[in-house]
Amino acid sequence: QEEIARLTERVRQLLKEKNAVMLAHNYQPPEIQDAADMCGDSLELSIKASKTGAQVIVFAGVHFMAETASILSPQKTVILPRENAGCPMADMIDPQALAKRKEELPGVPVVTYVNSPAAVKALTDVCCTSANVVKVINSIEGSEVLMAPDKNLAMFASRQSDKKIHIWEGCCPYHDALTPQDILAAKEKYPNAVVMAHPECRPEVIDMADAALSTSGMLAYPDSSDAEVFIVGTEVGILHPLKKRHPNKIFVPASEKLLCQDMKRITLLDVISSLENMTGVVKVPEEIRIPALSAVEKMTQYVN
Ligand code: 13P
Ligand code: SF4
Repeated sequence: QEEIARLTERVRQLLKEKNAVMLAHNYQPPEIQDAADMCGDSLELSIKASKTGAQVIVFAGVHFMAETASILSPQKTVILPRENAGCPMADMIDPQALAKRKEELPGVPVVTYVNSPAAVKALTDVCCTSANVVKVINSIEGSEVLMAPDKNLAMFASRQSDKKIHIWEGCCPYHDALTPQDILAAKEKYPNAVVMAHPECRPEVIDMADAALSTSGMLAYPDSSDAEVFIVGTEVGILHPLKKRHPNKIFVPASEKLLCQDMKRITLLDVISSLENMTGVVKVPEEIRIPALSAVEKMTQYVN
């Protein structure tokens, strides 16, 4: 604990020295979230990254998030403190495969989940996150949309839209592994609990949930519920900010499977060394950044 306090202090000191801001995703380890200037879901962090006045953005998250910050703020230095913090879902699509699919669906607009490589965003009409996917889909002209790379998010959106949605066969391996049996088992233990599920979960799991929400949606949800116990159907990193914000409520993970290795890679020591040496810089090349920018910028307009 003392060690954490000492390292946190060093992080805060370096952030000041380097005119840097530290953003952390809601799934990051507790000490990383506590050291950051701001925590949030993918949409909030993208907006924050586009608006900050700081010269350096330290992104405590995964690679696609740092790329999105670089797309929005090319004049800033974006640092991902651990280069190997990736996203298995983002790896389930590449620009060649998307270009091929687009040829099979001529004229069909493409909506890409922000959990995707920058080069894929460059081939996309508009990006979305789990917080604004329905608004984004319904803002598209025409009756058909190709949605990539998350099949579960696409199915979630298609149930709230009249459009025909063409699905890409990608998913988050952790959310996709959550089963209705897991939810049943948790409900058996906590019969009065409310179930929150992330839209990256399978449709049959979302059907059993009281609410399907982005991570920040989940952080706010207990404010509007009388329930005392919440079964949490998303990555377990969210339990830290949930408990902090609602100290009188009880939060239990829907399954132990919901642990994303990539979201746990960054340590306070990594943040310190990347700031000291200005390493781990993520820079999207201009030939990709320019075509990706409008899709990402449009996404940040659709807030709840
Ligand atoms: P949100 O925080 O946008 O709900 O994202 C979930 C996620 O999987 C990020 O990797
Ligand atoms: Fe990717 Fe899933 Fe990890 Fe989010 S939780 S970073 S979608 S693998």
